[in-house]
Amino acid sequence: GRVLHVVGTRPNFVKAAPVVAALRTAGPDQFLVHTGQHYDERLSHIFFRELGLPEPDTDLGVGSGSHARQTADLLVALEAELTARAPALVMVYGDVNSTLAASLVAAKLGIPVAHVEAGLRSFDMSMPEEVNRRLVDQLSELLFATSPEAVGHLAREGIAADRVHFVGNPMIDTLLTHLDRFDPAGARAAHGLPERYGVVTLHRPANVDDPEAAAVAVRTLTEAAAHLDLTVPLHPRGRAALQAAGLADAPGVHLLEPLGYVEFMGLVRGAAAVITDSGGVQEETTVLGVPCLTLRTTTERPVTVTHGTNRLVGHAELVPALDKVLDGGGVAPVEGPPLWDGRAGARIARVITEWLERHG
Ligand code: UD1
Ligand code: UDP
Repeated sequence: GRVLHVVGTRPNFVKAAPVVAALRTAGPDQFLVHTGQHYDERLSHIFFRELGLPEPDTDLGVGSGSHARQTADLLVALEAELTARAPALVMVYGDVNSTLAASLVAAKLGIPVAHVEAGLRSFDMSMPEEVNRRLVDQLSELLFATSPEAVGHLAREGIAADRVHFVGNPMIDTLLTHLDRFDPAGARAAHGLPERYGVVTLHRPANVDDPEAAAVAVRTLTEAAAHLDLTVPLHPRGRAALQAAGLADAPGVHLLEPLGYVEFMGLVRGAAAVITDSGGVQEETTVLGVPCLTLRTTTERPVTVTHGTNRLVGHAELVPALDKVLDGGGVAPVEGPPLWDGRAGARIARVITEWLERHG
């Protein structure tokens, strides 16, 4: 039985790396297909090198476009690829357009799908990711959940319990594997940051696509930067809008290109606070014990609030919340979410291996 992994974006690479590694030990033949949804060196290749992912067997080179255009291109390219490779199982990760397209193509070809990071729900269908998550879970044969809430969501959506496996969080496997390489002092020095600084990432459409939303975000961050120097590795989405709104000119704001994983996590590890709208960063800060202020109204990762350092804040609440964090309040040491122990990849590999023995 051959397993074919489909990845396409930065967060996919971080989640797939430990699964590919664990399955290598377990033995089935593996193919790694890169859709090319992310293609810049700094959003793509750097992760393959740093995380020890094998070179993709195929890069479909799909690239950017509107949702319809990108998804359509993904569907066509993936149909040809999956037909030619004829795997026993397709593995998909997270909630991006590549994840949805791969699941849909596999389902129509009659190839079972395994979804890593199943069951997350923000209950906000205006997020493209929420649409993707719901559909992918309906199409999946095996569903790997990172939290007990996720298992509950899947049960309520009528997904049979024997297809759902609570395995922990592969993104945290990657973090724990590379922890010794995260060097806050080195990363801080490389970017000329003071000893006390914050890290900001923003790329959600709701925060950066519309010029008015971008202007609100820039006003909030400008005010925050008067309290704490902020380093901002900017995703290409929103770079233009945030710059047009004057982000580069705000005193205390240090704009950067997107960073590689090791350098980024070095900065996060040493940060006094992180301000973000990312999914993965909410999880990583929880495990590193770094206060995280999430500039969103919902989260699909509530376990980072109940068992971690995360807090959802509106734009008006950000600066007071930041002040509180800087005064040393608000973040007690946390135990962390259950099973976020670096063994998720191994648990997934065991389920897959057993499944292949029966079906593959
Ligand atoms: C995608 C995911 C999002 C995820 C994010 C992780 C979807 C719907 N969204 O968002 O859930 O949080 O990845 O980073 O799948 N671009 C480049 N270089 C690249 C790739 C993109 O410059 O290598 C630019 C293009 O202008 C493109 C824009 O970024 O139009 C958006 O890229 P896209 O892949 O459509 O979505 P992301 O915003 O990256
Ligand atoms: N990341 C990185 N460099 C950066 C920003 C992010 O290496 O400059 C990593 C980090 O591990 C993060 C992951 O990429 O968790 C995915 O980030 P992103 O916010 O793009 O995606 P999301 O989790 O929101 O889908």
